[in-house]
Amino acid sequence: MDGGHPRVVDATPTRRSQPRSWADSRRPHRPNYAEAVRIDIVTIFPEFFSVLDVSLLGSARKSGLIDVAVHDLRDFTHDRHRTVDDTPSGGGAGMVMRPEPWGEALDAVLTDQSTVVFPTPAGRLFVQKQARELADREHLIFCCGRYEGIDQRVIEHTRTRAAEVLELSIGDYVLNGGEVAAMVVIEAVGRLIPGVVGNPESLVEESHEDGLLEYPSYTKPAEWRGLETPPVLLGGNHAAIAAWRHEQQLERTRRVRPELLPPA
Ligand code: ADE
Repeated sequence: MDGGHPRVVDATPTRRSQPRSWADSRRPHRPNYAEAVRIDIVTIFPEFFSVLDVSLLGSARKSGLIDVAVHDLRDFTHDRHRTVDDTPSGGGAGMVMRPEPWGEALDAVLTDQSTVVFPTPAGRLFVQKQARELADREHLIFCCGRYEGIDQRVIEHTRTRAAEVLELSIGDYVLNGGEVAAMVVIEAVGRLIPGVVGNPESLVEESHEDGLLEYPSYTKPAEWRGLETPPVLLGGNHAAIAAWRHEQQLERTRRVRPELLPPA
């Protein structure tokens, strides 16, 4: 891409494989790793996703590992003002996203093989284990709500049509909409898609992969501003280095995130 807006595509994804059995389709996985992972994003702010043109995910798109299409929800409205929201039924503050544009947008992108993600602070907490699972899907759709959220019937209706529907929160705080949360999930998942990270070994020894935080890292020079690299890392004794790193992981996790450790 040339640094402008991301590609906004109004395209129905082609089916990548024959439909599988119903039981299989509940947990869709990529039968054919030669094909790109398709990601559709529906949003009223397509510009948010221009970051997908740069860095690792930008390269993965260029090399055909990931196929991203961003859709403007307002393209699925029919009134002059391209309205996507209305007042909440039952009263209350704020606005709720109307179901009709969402229904039409999903009609355009959904297949029975799709995994549909609704980012919401009311969802299940998104963690690395889920990122690993989503990296194995062939088609991900992100539905980015704004305001007080999307009419709940959209989620219920989508459950009857998609292989999998997930309401995911990226943390216990409230953002202005699902776009940044979708980006977080896309980056966490995208880097786990085979081929996206050049050296897959670097994915093994990082925070959360084994339930612990990562050990601290050092590089050259061995001394910098009076601070030394831990001598064990310079000694070439691989067993000693592995033991030191594991101890650091435990100590760091105990200190910073004790809730990640199994109960004693
Ligand atoms: N939308 C608004 N806040 C969010 C959060 N914490 N996680 C996911 N989606 C959101």
